[in-house]
Amino acid sequence: MYFYKNEFMNKADIQLSPDDRGYYFGDGIYEVFRVYQGKLYEQDAHMQRLQRTASEVRLTLPFTIEKIGQILTELVAKNKLIDGTVYLQITRGEAPRAHPFPTQAEPIMLAYCTEVPRPTATIHNGIKAITFADIRWLRCDLKTLNLLPNVMAKQAALDNNVQEVVLHREGTVTECSASNLMIIKDGVLYTHPANHLILHGITRAVVLRLARGLEMPVKEEAFTTEQLMAADEAFISGTTVEITPILEVDGRTIGAGTPGAHTRKLQEEFVRTFS
Ligand code: PDD
Repeated sequence: MYFYKNEFMNKADIQLSPDDRGYYFGDGIYEVFRVYQGKLYEQDAHMQRLQRTASEVRLTLPFTIEKIGQILTELVAKNKLIDGTVYLQITRGEAPRAHPFPTQAEPIMLAYCTEVPRPTATIHNGIKAITFADIRWLRCDLKTLNLLPNVMAKQAALDNNVQEVVLHREGTVTECSASNLMIIKDGVLYTHPANHLILHGITRAVVLRLARGLEMPVKEEAFTTEQLMAADEAFISGTTVEITPILEVDGRTIGAGTPGAHTRKLQEEFVRTFS
């Protein structure tokens, strides 16, 4: 069961218009929520980010945040979803193709659930990555539909037989294709500051909170690809990947080449936030 425009309906009954500005311009915003044990994880944080993105791109949400929350909760219940994700997208509506904001169009909301098990194998074993130029725009803090650079980056990873890309702007690491990146050096956790160059990940915020709770020093400071290579530990954080260790970048081993003790501790604490 999907939600589209104003109602719950079967996917097959959704009639999408080619005039949806999501198609023409990527003129829309989205969120991906994790569902653990039938409940939306960090719902308020996702809703706040949705509201912020909507306001920054001057898109009026079709419903109040409370109503959107109710719709998503109902969607999860109707689909009997226990472990998985909810995708929520809101575009600026349907109008003949023209760049200015349409005066008549109503924003269009789409939401659906997917059953997805936790990626326990990669969480346990870690993944490899390559570095890749971050060619995105200067508002990466907004969760908009314009994901072509992310798609290109992720495909480059797969073409190189690794699972992820580490994006960098002239050697300064920003984040990954659909996750944030953190490193640990001499017991200190470093991650790019939450500015316009990265998405302010909900999982990133949870991890920083957990690290502070463990009295692990946290520095929201940018680091270079060379500092990444010289780190003791590295991992990515995100709704779909949770905390996944990075063991190798561009063929160079990070730390001992196995998931590190700090990463393991944060993973343990992370599981406690939803179980
Ligand atoms: N991506 N950075 C980017 C570029 C992202 O697209 C995402 C999430 C993150 C992690 O954010 P969070 O912890 O809030 O999931 C960081 C989602 C899952 C996606 O596009 O599928």
